[in-house]
Amino acid sequence: MKIEQKSPNRDELKMLFHQIGSEERLRLILRDFYSRMASDILVGFFFINKNPETVADKQVGFLMRAMGQSPTYRGKSPAKAHEDLPPILAGHFDRRLKILEATLREHGIPEEAIQLWVRFEGSFRAGIVG
Ligand code: HEM
Repeated sequence: MKIEQKSPNRDELKMLFHQIGSEERLRLILRDFYSRMASDILVGFFFINKNPETVADKQVGFLMRAMGQSPTYRGKSPAKAHEDLPPILAGHFDRRLKILEATLREHGIPEEAIQLWVRFEGSFRAGIVG
């Protein structure tokens, strides 16, 4: 069993945004990430009949709020967002973190920032893995 990861604090998340540089770069990274998720052999089926770009753009809004760059986020919470999907299992969640890590590395995000981002996403495990 995985131990629940503690989320980075607000200041750490703000610093992460500054290492990313801009909302445009964040969008570029997330569009790449969701395109990889959607074509992945283990988690791709979650995206059948979904537009990965739309999901990426929702995630941009979510992260802009979490990284202290936007006062509001209008979308669903991560725990609510997946209610109509097939059950997300621990292995799916782990796979997502691996794909995220690989994507961020290819986009030249510094290693420390990658680990922070992965820790942030990991902190949602209990609410998402059912
Ligand atoms: C294996 C893990 C995950 C899978 C397979 C997955 C898959 C998906 C899919 C398919 C959607 C689109 C749902 C729809 O349009 O009906 C979605 C939405 C979303 N996901 Fe995930 N997700 C995962 C983990 C996460 C995590 C860790 C977070 C947050 C850190 C997250 C945040 C969101 C958000 C914010 C949305 C959009 C909410 C909205 O519609 O307003 N997801 N996810």
